[in-house]
Amino acid sequence: MTGSVPAAKRALERYYRFHARIYDATRWSFLFGRTDLVERVATWRSPANILEIGCGTGRNLARLARRFPRAHLTGLDLSADMLARARRCLEPHGDRLTLLRQAYAQPLGGEPRFDVIVLSYCLSMINPGWEQVIASVRQDLRPNGLIAVVDFHDSAWPAFRRWMAVNHVRMEGRLLPELQIRFQPLDRAISRAYGGLWRYFRFIGAPVLS
Ligand SMILES: C[S@@+](CC[C@H](N)C(=O)[O-])C[C@H]1O[C@@H](n2cnc3c(N)ncnc32)[C@H](O)[C@@H]1O
Repeated sequence: MTGSVPAAKRALERYYRFHARIYDATRWSFLFGRTDLVERVATWRSPANILEIGCGTGRNLARLARRFPRAHLTGLDLSADMLARARRCLEPHGDRLTLLRQAYAQPLGGEPRFDVIVLSYCLSMINPGWEQVIASVRQDLRPNGLIAVVDFHDSAWPAFRRWMAVNHVRMEGRLLPELQIRFQPLDRAISRAYGGLWRYFRFIGAPVLS
């Protein structure tokens, strides 16, 4: 693992200071599979406590709130600018919402309390440290909980991978194999975007009992 976690965190905070403003208007065109992930979670569980790590502007949490009208929702993000938008987007669900501003790395602590932990296009931006995040999610999940992930998988085009790295995204096909070590897959798929310019994956898994 190379690089420094605080430096990477500061770089992402700076990046989202501007991108928060254009996020919802632009990301629909390339962050595929997010709606599908929420719908598929609903086929496996009816969670009481949901955490989204890297919740961004709150789009997924809003959908989860509608899908699970009794669940408590926790959104965590390192970017104050993204969280400010999430707070506005989630105002109608404010009585069952907790927003936390922090960079997730270690387990949140205490008894594991989440039935579902969602990571949507977040792991591919945590460089260094994504392996530690996957291990920590395992600690924060209840024993019968689920992890639900959608993210970039890989691209055969080096110029495209370089462009995505400029945007703080790594797509080296390493996330899915690591997830499958820590979690028993219940639902997984790899899909092509824009005729194969890149591939993205969906993974829903239950903790492997240790
Ligand atoms: C590409 S956005 C995805 C937002 C949202 N999940 C979605 O699907 O639209 C990635 C988000 O993850 C956040 N993020 C990146 N690393 C993080 C970390 N270690 N802890 C918490 N949030 C993080 C960023 O600030 C950003 O808001």
